[in-house]
Amino acid sequence: MRIFVVNGPNLNLLGHREPEVYGYETLEDIEYFIRTRAEQLSVDVSFFQSNHEGQLIDAVHDHRDYDGLIINPGGLTHTSVALADAIAGVRLPAVEVHLSNVHAREEFRRHSYISPVSWGQIVGFGYHGYLVALDLLHARLREDDET
Ligand code: DQA
Repeated sequence: MRIFVVNGPNLNLLGHREPEVYGYETLEDIEYFIRTRAEQLSVDVSFFQSNHEGQLIDAVHDHRDYDGLIINPGGLTHTSVALADAIAGVRLPAVEVHLSNVHAREEFRRHSYISPVSWGQIVGFGYHGYLVALDLLHARLREDDET
């Protein structure tokens, strides 16, 4: 089972960027936590971060033979029809993750172009959201295998 973990713009600055909103863990820390959990589940994970919309779209296309997607699109959540189209296009079950509770912040953060093409959305639990997303995708993919 292979899961692709994608992080969008500015998430390379995690740990330094508004830590009271996004937490003190760096992206490297979070990827380490995810990899550790993935090993327990015998899941292969691959990571990608970019500040560029087109690179994120290309990366999603390039991983279309994976089994699932965990994506924190950062600010592109609220703007990118093209990224949503890419996710819909590859037909992978996707979990949208946000570290912060986007519903408790500015109004513009409440709308996501990604949610309608995702299996579900996890918001507000910091880096734990990625780990929950991994557990959920793993459980779903195992169930899919059994049917
Ligand atoms: C974010 C929320 C977005 O609104 C913001 O633009 C980000 C991070 C989050 O993880 O909470 O870059 O996706």
